[in-house]
Amino acid sequence: MKASKVKYPDQADQGRLNVELAERNMGALMQVRKRFAKERPFHGLTIGMALHVTKETAVLVRTLRDGGARVVITGCNPLSTQDDVAAALAQEEGVEVFAHRGESKDEYYAFLRDVVMSKPDITIDDGCDLVTEIHQNSPELLESIIGGCEETTTGVLRLRAMVKAGMLKYPVVAVNDNKTKHLMDNYYGTGQSTLDGLLRAANLLFAGKTLVVIGYGSCGKGVALRGRGMGANVIVAEVDAFCALQARMDGFRVMPLSEAVKEGDIYVTVTGNVHVIDWQHILAMKDGAVLANSGHFDNEINMKALEEHSDSKRRVRPCLDEYTVHGKNIFVAGEGRLVNLAAAEGHPSEVMSLSFCGQALACEYLVKNRGKLAAGVVTLPEQVDDEISQLQLKAMGLKIDCLTDEQRKYLTSWEHGT
Ligand code: ADE
Repeated sequence: MKASKVKYPDQADQGRLNVELAERNMGALMQVRKRFAKERPFHGLTIGMALHVTKETAVLVRTLRDGGARVVITGCNPLSTQDDVAAALAQEEGVEVFAHRGESKDEYYAFLRDVVMSKPDITIDDGCDLVTEIHQNSPELLESIIGGCEETTTGVLRLRAMVKAGMLKYPVVAVNDNKTKHLMDNYYGTGQSTLDGLLRAANLLFAGKTLVVIGYGSCGKGVALRGRGMGANVIVAEVDAFCALQARMDGFRVMPLSEAVKEGDIYVTVTGNVHVIDWQHILAMKDGAVLANSGHFDNEINMKALEEHSDSKRRVRPCLDEYTVHGKNIFVAGEGRLVNLAAAEGHPSEVMSLSFCGQALACEYLVKNRGKLAAGVVTLPEQVDDEISQLQLKAMGLKIDCLTDEQRKYLTSWEHGT
């Protein structure tokens, strides 16, 4: 008996159309699905997932299910679930879904418990909440879990903190560390989808505006690049000396946020850290400034301070709130949650195909190496990353050159110099 909890079951037809559209653009993952359907690597296993419930995630869910798994999924952010997709998934054979957009914190954790109750053999996380929930509240499951997969930088940071504290009790693949993930999804995906979120939330013109990007990791680099592409003057604020140098060499202005606040029209946080836009920054901002966060958690902008100390607040439109602060208006997109998923549809399917090939192949790797991997953070072998690139090239109809025997030999020799 299927026990899904979704909010709008009648939206399933629209959800299926969206999933089909995503499948058209996820050719690499579709090749993996075809192989999985033949080989059934997950026969008899339950895969528990806490991932944004989007049309792209649905393509991953179908891929794992066709590989033989029972898939039980909840969201990993209260504002990112696409309800039509959740409805469509709930009707799929072998899939259970617990998610709706706008769920409360209590509902979020109740749904996470629903996934835990399915006794997963493999976990897939985006942000490490499922791993944390199991370790803290269902340690009896730890023994039988084959392993887990983690999608995002923030989740990998949490996992490494667990390792340091001696707390992580099963192997978890850091899918984020694949080249085909963090150098593609974080860069091209976050770059495009963050601007998409800001455009849908506030219908802004970027040309001629000053865009302050806080954090210049792969995500920040993508946001800065696309912001410049839309005609914005980009300022980067960083705490890491090397990343700050990279931003400068890439042609952006670099300065502390305390100075950038005098100029910025639009702010995007992409740091994975807490309160990077704090109350004193907000007080110094220009009237009309628009704030958005594209990091995993909603604590990069100090929303609590804004809620408590602003003089008034009104919802201007679904994903845009206006706060009055000492006579100025400050706008926040997507309630300070991931703006690309709260106000738009997340990364486009093409880029998620690469990330989710990483998830699918990581699950297969865990099963193939069952009992052989130590508890801790696992990096996939380079060949898997390479296989993903090859699949994507094939899906795009692109061919590349091969090394000759002479070149292969040269690369592994040392005798010949100048
Ligand atoms: N993270 C960012 N974009 C996403 C998407 N489209 N689906 C799932 N997770 C995402």
